[in-house]
Amino acid sequence: MKKVIKQDNSNIRKDSYDLLTKENDEAPNNPEGLKLLTEEIEITKATYDENLSIVSDILNDIKIEKKIDIEKIQIVAKSLVNNVLKHTDAMLILSRVRKFDDYTFKHSVNVAILTIALGKYLNYPDKEVEILGTGGLLHDCGKMKVPNEILNKEGRFSEAEFEIMKKHPIYGAEILEESAQFDQKSILMALQHHEKYSGGGYPTGCTGSKISTFGMMTAVADVYDAITSDRVYNKALNPFEGLKKLYTEKGHQFHPTIFEHFVYSIGLFPLGSLVQLKNGLIGIIVSVNRNNLMYPRVLVIANETGKMFFMPYIVNVNPPRSEESGKWTMESIFEDNKETKGFAPDEKQGYKVDKVIEPSEYNIDVDFQFNNMQKLIQQIS
Ligand SMILES: [Fe+2]
Repeated sequence: MKKVIKQDNSNIRKDSYDLLTKENDEAPNNPEGLKLLTEEIEITKATYDENLSIVSDILNDIKIEKKIDIEKIQIVAKSLVNNVLKHTDAMLILSRVRKFDDYTFKHSVNVAILTIALGKYLNYPDKEVEILGTGGLLHDCGKMKVPNEILNKEGRFSEAEFEIMKKHPIYGAEILEESAQFDQKSILMALQHHEKYSGGGYPTGCTGSKISTFGMMTAVADVYDAITSDRVYNKALNPFEGLKKLYTEKGHQFHPTIFEHFVYSIGLFPLGSLVQLKNGLIGIIVSVNRNNLMYPRVLVIANETGKMFFMPYIVNVNPPRSEESGKWTMESIFEDNKETKGFAPDEKQGYKVDKVIEPSEYNIDVDFQFNNMQKLIQQIS
């Protein structure tokens, strides 16, 4: 028997899934759910953009040897924490679909969002979640001390260049220590985010419990955001494929339990994933049911051929029923050769996720879809 991952959901805060959930909303055309989601995205988009511009100023200050403006970074961390606590799903969607030219700045904000969401899922006190946010925002600040020609190099690093690049966690920890105002846990996030659970990471190559919990949390968030973002030398994996790749490193590069918690915090089908339902309809995952990851909510946007609907609508995929929890395991979902493979444990239910699909296969721009929802809402209201 496979070991089923048990989770204690008793103290998870209410999130936007509850906000969007209506009783018995299996019937399509749920404009209210769509409106709520659109409003959440509108509110959080402004915050995301503003925070991104402040973070880019702060990181640029480090580059020109100016001191970190601790007040500014705390304001950003607090604002991100507030937004992630209130609008978890909308913030996670934004971290996936917003496109920016500068990878480092966007990556810093995204890692903060992901670590905050993980801290929230683990029900950490607000103070700790803030420390996670601050450390997430600054985890790569040491890169500002790496020469531009290496940092922005297209293609593979030479051995010598990689040796310099590998110093950025130490530079980062030094920068944060210098200011003497950062919590030790935030500093460890900068220092240890490239360490590996089973050893062989950098800068020290230490293993297991020698790596702080916050450091290991940052490591998962860092790699997840990196492999699911378009970079000069790497095309982004879709969020589900990204998680699948991370899964192969569970217990190796990543602490096994922290990896599992991470999956619960962002969803088995992470927000922003494009999926095809059993009935052929195509949609985007817009809300995670953290009580049972098999049952997300989907914004249906196109028919089985990829023809876009004028008015998208939200459906509950297999409305949550607690007695079905535990009928699946991460192994059965992530490992292709498992007999239990499949996204739909109960064939009697209506909407089921059949597979995760590549947006480019159907010529669908997920970012464009979200940006246009506001316009659609205005047209119908
Ligand atoms: Fe890094």
